[in-house]
Amino acid sequence: MKDTYILAIESSCDETSIAIIKNGHKEISNIVLSQMDTHSNYGGVVPEIASRMHIENITIVLEQALKEANLTMEDIDAIAVTYGPGLVGSLLIGLQAAKTLSYVYNKPLVPVHHIAGHIYANNLEKSMEFPLIALVISGGHTELVYMKEDYSFEVIGSTLDDAVGEAYDKVARVMNLSYPGGPKVDKLAHEGTDTYDLPLPLDDDSYNFSFSGIKSAVINLRHNEEQRGNQLNLPNLATSFQNRVVEILTKKTMKALKEYKVKNLIIAGGVSANKGIRERFSELCVQENINLTIPKLEYCTDNAAMIGAAGYYAYKLGRRADLDLNVKATDKLN
Ligand code: KG4
Ligand code: ZN
Repeated sequence: MKDTYILAIESSCDETSIAIIKNGHKEISNIVLSQMDTHSNYGGVVPEIASRMHIENITIVLEQALKEANLTMEDIDAIAVTYGPGLVGSLLIGLQAAKTLSYVYNKPLVPVHHIAGHIYANNLEKSMEFPLIALVISGGHTELVYMKEDYSFEVIGSTLDDAVGEAYDKVARVMNLSYPGGPKVDKLAHEGTDTYDLPLPLDDDSYNFSFSGIKSAVINLRHNEEQRGNQLNLPNLATSFQNRVVEILTKKTMKALKEYKVKNLIIAGGVSANKGIRERFSELCVQENINLTIPKLEYCTDNAAMIGAAGYYAYKLGRRADLDLNVKATDKLN
């Protein structure tokens, strides 16, 4: 059978990335230009700066992706692009590049939802097995998704307010840790003891999540301790916060696996780099005989390889977009 090469473009936040993926599995090239250092000066991603930097970087990244793959545009079967959700100004740069390539080289344009990409990061090392439950945890998303088969997404729960990564970054700020604080809180959490009485976030029967309550609890805690003239014990606070987050994520995910009678779990998104989350899920999945897959770290954060993996299945299903495709800041996973 003829090989299928997808050229994929991802620019939904602060990474400019272009990848070439063969047959939905094999990374031929994956160039990721992160703007993290620039945005960390501002304590978070500044949308206007992000889109300007995407403009500066996109052609450089494209040239490098083709060069590293040793391919030309003639070898490419289709262009997959993240059309949303994400920052509108950032998405527009990737989409415009994708449309231009599609028009100039007469290649089909395949729209990919960013979360589908995060999920399909798990297909880059070995094929995903179905049915599965996907837990997507990133700076912008917290979603539990049931997949009966390839490219069929049933969102069974999501966050009602802050995403997990967002909560980590906000709690990190309260602890005076620089952006992005998630990895720093994770590191500290392994150095402390769970001494702070923080609430378990949205501990109900649904598959939804809510992290704004625990974030407010941390803000109030700092305020109260300051009033009393006490110093916060940062490692202990990080441990208490992380334990609550891990407990609620594992509780709802393990329940979904039981209820949906599913034996395959995949975890995706930037927060799946979290050591505490990886460790606890690994333990529970061994106990419950669940087949757990978490992408390697470079595929956890935003990258175009995952968009190319998802794009391959979207392409095979005949999903196409016209040149009037627009970006979407928010959109249902489909
Ligand atoms: O998937 P991603 O690169 O971007 C989005 O699509 O949002 O995720 C970035 C998020 C940030 O909030 C960052 O703090 C968080 O992932 N993150 C972590 C860890 N590594 C990255 N959060 C907790 N623990 C980590 N080790
Ligand atoms: Zn992402």
